[in-house]
Amino acid sequence: MDFRKLFLCSSLLVLHFAFSSSKDTITINQTIHDGDFLISRENNFALGFFSPGSSRFRYLGIWYRKVREQTVVWVANRDDPINGSSGVLSIDQYGNLVLHSYHNLKVPVWSTNVSVEATDTCVVAQLLDTGNLVLFDDRSKSTVWESFDHPTDTMLPGMKLGLDRRTGMNRFLISWRSAADPGTGNFSLQINPQAFIYWGTKYIWRGIPWPWKSYADIFNASFVNNQNETYAAYSVSDASVILRVMLDYSRLVKNLIWHEKDGKWNEFRSTPKSPCDPYGHCGTYGICDPHFFSRRFECDYLPGYEPKSLREWNILKDASGGCVRKRLESTSSCGHGDGFVKVANVKVPDTSAAVWVSTNMSPRDCEKNCMRNFSCSAYASIDIAEKETGCLTWYGKLMDTVHNREEGYDIYVRVDAIELAEIAQKWNGFLKRKDMLAILVVSVVSAWFVVILFAYLWLKKKKKRVRNKWNKRWLDTIGCAYYNETSVENQVEGSMSHPEIAFFNLSTILAATDSFSPSNKLGQGGFGMVYKGKLFNGTEVAVKRLSKDSGQGVDEFKNEVLLIAKLQH
Ligand SMILES: *[C@@H]1O[C@H](CO)[C@@H](O)[C@H](O)[C@H]1NC(C)=O
Ligand SMILES: *[C@@H]1O[C@H](CO)[C@@H](O)[C@H](O)[C@H]1NC(C)=O
Ligand SMILES: *[C@@H]1O[C@H](CO)[C@@H](O)[C@H](O)[C@H]1NC(C)=O
Ligand SMILES: *[C@@H]1O[C@H](CO)[C@@H](O)[C@H](O)[C@H]1NC(C)=O
Ligand SMILES: *[C@@H]1O[C@H](CO)[C@@H](O)[C@H](O)[C@H]1NC(C)=O
Ligand SMILES: *[C@@H]1O[C@H](CO)[C@@H](O)[C@H](O)[C@H]1NC(C)=O
Ligand SMILES: *[C@@H]1O[C@H](CO)[C@@H](O)[C@H](O)[C@H]1NC(C)=O
Repeated sequence: MDFRKLFLCSSLLVLHFAFSSSKDTITINQTIHDGDFLISRENNFALGFFSPGSSRFRYLGIWYRKVREQTVVWVANRDDPINGSSGVLSIDQYGNLVLHSYHNLKVPVWSTNVSVEATDTCVVAQLLDTGNLVLFDDRSKSTVWESFDHPTDTMLPGMKLGLDRRTGMNRFLISWRSAADPGTGNFSLQINPQAFIYWGTKYIWRGIPWPWKSYADIFNASFVNNQNETYAAYSVSDASVILRVMLDYSRLVKNLIWHEKDGKWNEFRSTPKSPCDPYGHCGTYGICDPHFFSRRFECDYLPGYEPKSLREWNILKDASGGCVRKRLESTSSCGHGDGFVKVANVKVPDTSAAVWVSTNMSPRDCEKNCMRNFSCSAYASIDIAEKETGCLTWYGKLMDTVHNREEGYDIYVRVDAIELAEIAQKWNGFLKRKDMLAILVVSVVSAWFVVILFAYLWLKKKKKRVRNKWNKRWLDTIGCAYYNETSVENQVEGSMSHPEIAFFNLSTILAATDSFSPSNKLGQGGFGMVYKGKLFNGTEVAVKRLSKDSGQGVDEFKNEVLLIAKLQH
């Protein structure tokens, strides 16, 4: 043994102890037995042996000192419990932290297993106030090992989850098996570089990809992705707040705050809980709406796409089959009249299939970039930290898109010219519906026969003008920069003549049903009232009217109309 080295080391240790009031370190030749503790300097965390829940086994772990309910944030021997109170923690002659059981002093139950300089007796293990247990060389102060690099199921403030490319180390959370068993469970939370909850090797949930919107909140999340490392971390701006993020054995990622007053952890956020949280719940090119209160199905599809199987989608309410393009690429004149339709405020689709073109590019250039490449299916122009505007483009399938008003961004989905025209027409339908509603309200209040007559005459004159005006404005707002004004208008008119469907205007319907007279009511369906009517030529018809309260959209209504039309053949 090198005595000079030993002397230097010992004197450093003496110094160390002179400055620390409570024992937060162990050095070579010191041991922690079951019943002993290390306490961090500010009394935030303790390290020692514990038995979780009803378990009779002993584990070495770290828990909060200031939280009454014992809350373990890290476990050393999670898969190798110790039988009885025979555990002992020490630093071995190679400078590794080792955990032994009296029953077997030769083979450690657990070890930090780092290769440090042989016979290095100068390493010290210290429990920090962040909850991190660090093993460091007391001379150079360089860290040899730290528990933050080997998390169990809890992410503490200051901890990094993700990949360090320089060392090849990937840090992620793995759930416990149960409340009484901290062993390696079935769920893990990994950053690659989106946050995913894995169930075995399959992911079941995806977090909102970076960049995250920041709020005036005590919870400050950060994300770093460069050539050296990719990680997510968070800090808490108020040091007196005890906050943790953990992956529960029931697969939930929970954000918890300790409420001293009530003596319990308050769960302020946990996921996956909403029907839209499971990964790809609405399939490829689907979009999920977690606030679907009155609608019957949370799944919808992105513009330009339709369900692969209408039966599965509409009747079985199973969207897992996903959607396909309404028209094959070959039938639309590729690249001619293509455009983009804005889908506002969504958790953007899985960015595994996306590319950051640039972190500083104007929305217009971003659109051009996507337009240039035929396999580009969507783009998003996203403000990064209110400084720059990034351009994110997707190639191929769009997965796991979810409406999210608070934390979402707008995406622009690529559609062909026919779809653009159809959307313009749908907008007309929407206006019609609005006008009709206005008429109805007025008519109830006043002498409605007269009013309807006047309003109807007025409408007939006005609608044509308004429609054209709205057409233009709508197409401008949906980011359709590529359409040729005259051709789109022609297509709008053109698509009013569907080969299998006869179109009637509202005045004909009003006349046929005696202005939707209650006496002509036949019944009520999922979309609203059904009326009996008689056309001018005497043909009896049933009139289905889309009610605003039905919760069904114009889309579904249109689908149903098409379905009925097909059934008749
Ligand atoms: C550790 O213990 C061994 C044997 O008891 C002793 O030789 C050595 O000097 C001790 N080391 C320190 C740093 O106290
Ligand atoms: C634990 O120890 C008890 C008594 O010391 C013994 O009966 C039991 O079999 C041991 N269990 C295991 C799993 O080693
Ligand atoms: C220690 O690490 C080596 C390689 O770094 C590995 O082969 C070995 O299995 C590890 N031992 C334990 C007990 O984890
Ligand atoms: C983990 O998954 C397997 C296979 O699905 C299951 O048999 C086992 O019970 C699960 N374990 C826990 C702790 O949930
Ligand atoms: C959030 O964290 C980042 C990086 O750690 C830091 O630069 C920033 O100042 C923090 N913001 C707040 C409000 O604490
Ligand atoms: C990556 O690591 C190298 C060497 O450790 C360092 O010089 C470089 O600045 C790091 N780059 C970033 C972006 O942190
Ligand atoms: C389109 O983008 C994909 C993915 O980035 C790329 O592989 C392909 O070469 C691009 N095609 C053209 C024509 O630029």
